[in-house]
Amino acid sequence: MKRVFSGVQPTGNIHLGNYLGALKQFVELQQDHECIYCIVDEHAITVPQDPKELRKHILDVAALYLAIGIDPKKSIIFVQSQVSGHAELGWVLCCNSYTGELSRMTQFKAKSGGQESVGTGLLTYPVLMAADILLYDTDVVPVGNDQKQHIELARDIAIRVNNKYGKTFVVPDGRFMKAGARIMALDDPEQKMSKSAENVHSRISLLDEDSKIKKSIMRATTDCDGEFRFDPVNKPGVSNLLNIYSALSGKTVEEILAEQNWRGYGDLKKELVAVTQEALAPIKQNYNEIRESDELKNILRDGAERANAIAQPVMKRVRDKFGLGLG
Ligand code: TYM
Repeated sequence: MKRVFSGVQPTGNIHLGNYLGALKQFVELQQDHECIYCIVDEHAITVPQDPKELRKHILDVAALYLAIGIDPKKSIIFVQSQVSGHAELGWVLCCNSYTGELSRMTQFKAKSGGQESVGTGLLTYPVLMAADILLYDTDVVPVGNDQKQHIELARDIAIRVNNKYGKTFVVPDGRFMKAGARIMALDDPEQKMSKSAENVHSRISLLDEDSKIKKSIMRATTDCDGEFRFDPVNKPGVSNLLNIYSALSGKTVEEILAEQNWRGYGDLKKELVAVTQEALAPIKQNYNEIRESDELKNILRDGAERANAIAQPVMKRVRDKFGLGLG
């Protein structure tokens, strides 16, 4: 069985982009893969976090993992900081990466742009992500398109170390959804949907009330030509709505367009409101039951133990290859 690893930052506002780009794949893959899903709290502190909020968000994401259908009996769910190998391997990989390649990362440029002083963690963030992946001899990494460059870096580092020290790491592949890989902001379809955008109507969070879902979709930016066409370059707003529709319903955009009898964008939006509300209703219901359960922390503790059992032999291999410690 191939091994899958992926992670989500515990920063609140988990949205439709996270779900359709990554989380939905997590659930599908657990049928025929050995899956490890992490809540990457060490990544979250690359920007300042309120400690109380961070602890809360860790459990929020854990509850969401379960609510969307990740089964802790099949898959490992755990918190990154509970397995020390992530930080340890992160350091070893920092010593095998270059500031040049890290400063070229699009996300680093976007996050550091215009700032007087930039935290070192923001620069080395993709190296820690490479460590997350390589620590488990991962074959497949399901993520959204915005992580493509980071996966490439993980592959480059793995190949570099393998060439220098002999076969140490499995070289992983990214896995991207057809429709959901890049969900755009509803208010500005030139930008990706994000957790941190100020306008709450730019995104649909997985726990949004039905009335909020309706409001955000009905006021989504479209265009003035009134044509129903999938054309992300010239019609990014309408194409984004069609993409979301396709990813949520499982129908292709072509099927949706062939079946429709909309009179205007309002009709498309109304239909999408219904599809979205229906898709998120069971997640919200499950979430509310799970979030208050005492079982949640036990699942995470058990997950960390199981993850650690996989990580330890890999760390030993790394120490041996590099000549660290006493052997
Ligand atoms: P994060 O927490 O920002 O996002 C979690 C997942 O959601 C995907 N995503 C999107 N997909 C489609 N459309 C969007 N608008 C959208 N926004 C976010 C992301 O691609 C991601 O898959 N660095 C990672 C977390 C991470 C990780 C890892 C992932 C740390 N270590 C190891 C995989 C393997 C991140 O910040 O994701």
